[in-house]
Amino acid sequence: MTAVPIVLAERADLAFADAPGSGPLVDRFGRVHRDLRISLTDRCSLRCTYCMPEQGNEWLARQSILGTVEIERVARIAASLGISTFRLTGGEPLLRRDLEEVIGRLSALETPDGPVEIAMTTNAIGLDERLPRLIDAGLGRLNISVDTIRADRFSDLTRRDRLGDVLAGIRAASESALTPLKLNAVAMRGVNDDELADLVQFAIDHGAQMRFIEQMPLDAGHTWDRARMVTRDEILEALAERWELTAVPGRGGAPAESWRLDGSAHTVGVIASVTAPFCGACDRVRLTADGQMRNCLFSNSEFDLVPILRGGGSDADIEDLLRRCIWKKLPGHAINDPSFLQPARGMNAIGG
Ligand code: 5AD
Ligand code: SF4
Repeated sequence: MTAVPIVLAERADLAFADAPGSGPLVDRFGRVHRDLRISLTDRCSLRCTYCMPEQGNEWLARQSILGTVEIERVARIAASLGISTFRLTGGEPLLRRDLEEVIGRLSALETPDGPVEIAMTTNAIGLDERLPRLIDAGLGRLNISVDTIRADRFSDLTRRDRLGDVLAGIRAASESALTPLKLNAVAMRGVNDDELADLVQFAIDHGAQMRFIEQMPLDAGHTWDRARMVTRDEILEALAERWELTAVPGRGGAPAESWRLDGSAHTVGVIASVTAPFCGACDRVRLTADGQMRNCLFSNSEFDLVPILRGGGSDADIEDLLRRCIWKKLPGHAINDPSFLQPARGMNAIGG
């Protein structure tokens, strides 16, 4: 009767053996990590209802936010261990006054196999003015979040009347050399689910790929409801009314699946985080603005870099923390499991 628990205990023991001390950043399931998402701030110029409460959000203390040099140090060590993509997120990364400097320092880093790539996820407010400097500094790719292109809805959803600024940012990005440009929308029932085809057409008109994201339980207000979520199949059904969709093969480890529209070169992407999780191919790890490494959006534990960064720790200590953090990664997010626990931080404080 006791045989099974003993075997399980032995396996768990093995699984939690020490992380390897050399080689690439690998977890216990063989996933090699190549992508570090760096949240530069938890502040934002918008207040999207699915992300932040209107008021009463508890902001990170200013002095706890990592500085340019601290971020560069962690990124340099990550690059030396094979991290080749750095994605800057927030909150809203454009609120960092030193964004050009952060991009400049990160884009100069090298992995053992070559240069790194710098990408950014942004709401595009203020992007039009700043984009030339960001590109000069070494920005390589942009994802812009835009859930609706109707001004009244935009104000309701984001609690700010800034659609004009977003559209100006998207226009600037579409006229820039950064490709491929991706536009991201969280599909939400009763909010934008009647607008999905219009968003795709808008993206086509701007030479961009529209991508729809299934909503995940990450809102600071903890109001996510599985039954209300718009699924990938519903998204495809809505788009099929306007276009003939053909699946594009060869997704690799990418979160988005893509479909060709009417056999043209234009595609639409769907990130089915809830109904078709892609955790098995995940190569992503995260650094929060206050110096916590997270091995998953949904982690319930963090690895604190601050005592090392601000307490005289060595580069080897940082490497060891990165290796341990990734080694402890779980196989998947378990959103669909009844025992699922939403992380304590909202998306704005984790980084998308
Ligand atoms: N579910 C899915 N996507 C989300 N985002 C923010 N909160 C959620 C959520 N709960 C998206 C934003 C942006 C990116 C950073 O993450 O819309 O595109
Ligand atoms: Fe800001 Fe992004 Fe959160 Fe919206 S989803 S409030 S744009 S951090």
